[in-house]
Amino acid sequence: MSKRIIFPQILNPQCIRNCNKEQRRTTCTDNDICKIASALDDSLPIRCVGTWAQKKIYFIAQYFGIFATGMHNKWKLNYVEICSGPGKCIDRKSGYEFDGTALSVLKHDSFKYLKNAFFFDYDQNVVSILNQRIQSLLIPNAKAYVGDYCNANSICDVLRSQVTSESLNLVVIDPTDCSVPFSCIESLKSTLSNMDIIINVATRMDFNRNVDNILSDPKKYADVKDKYEAFLNKRGFFDSLRRGSFNVDMRKAFRDAFKDSLSRIGYSHFEIKEVENYYDILFASESERGLDFWNKANKLTFDGQYSLF
Ligand SMILES: C[S@@+](CC[C@H](N)C(=O)[O-])C[C@H]1O[C@@H](n2cnc3c(N)ncnc32)[C@H](O)[C@@H]1O
Repeated sequence: MSKRIIFPQILNPQCIRNCNKEQRRTTCTDNDICKIASALDDSLPIRCVGTWAQKKIYFIAQYFGIFATGMHNKWKLNYVEICSGPGKCIDRKSGYEFDGTALSVLKHDSFKYLKNAFFFDYDQNVVSILNQRIQSLLIPNAKAYVGDYCNANSICDVLRSQVTSESLNLVVIDPTDCSVPFSCIESLKSTLSNMDIIINVATRMDFNRNVDNILSDPKKYADVKDKYEAFLNKRGFFDSLRRGSFNVDMRKAFRDAFKDSLSRIGYSHFEIKEVENYYDILFASESERGLDFWNKANKLTFDGQYSLF
């Protein structure tokens, strides 16, 4: 029987709450680190997020626990997270702070089943904050590194030197847009061999906002079109779309094209979890087993009720 994890939240009185996009230009760094509030327990910086982020983090942590519990007897397990952030978030609307994906995994009961955990972010400041948090948890087999998904070697060189081919690796990629080139996923797969992947496919927060522009004026929007085609690894993807089609159909075509590319590098089992109207969390595995875990994680829905104060 899978257990629902506790997802603690603490009201942070330093947060001025409800900053809009314009205000966040002064209250946050370019990378959404709050300049006003810091975490109540360790005084380190926190990432300013929308309310919907909690459900995504909860789901990924829930999946992680079920996966690690179910697989540790058969495999040496590693957890790899790309776009780790600093480890803690704050809900800009409610002012509640909570653990991000990285800390949720590091504090999870099933973390004990991992051989190693690797966290990557391209922001040196974020990496250093997360490493301070890892050190204060006294966890010796986890570390954050500077790594850029646009330069796969910056990530794969670290992994190649520390991951053996008998391990099973859960790779979580949590970007804010669709700028992860598919070549990065190919490099990860050839470096790690056995890799299940969870990726936040930003179809709603990114693709949805630009598809109509691309279809109406592909030359003007060539850069953004190139970005999506590199993500999908599919040149000419937009030629198959018709302007005026429902966004829901275009999003489906986008996700299908991405799955198609994943199937060309060996993936055969896929699931998608839609989180509110914000995230499409896509899971891909070479083994059917991962889908059982996914379905179990789906049953443990987020109730958002657990708060410390
Ligand atoms: C949505 S946030 C991650 C949130 C985090 N997973 C959590 O739950 O707290 C996206 C992160 O991606 C990082 N990022 C953006 N572009 C990147 C790139 N090219 N390579 C690696 N990390 C990148 C940002 O610095 C940011 O910390």
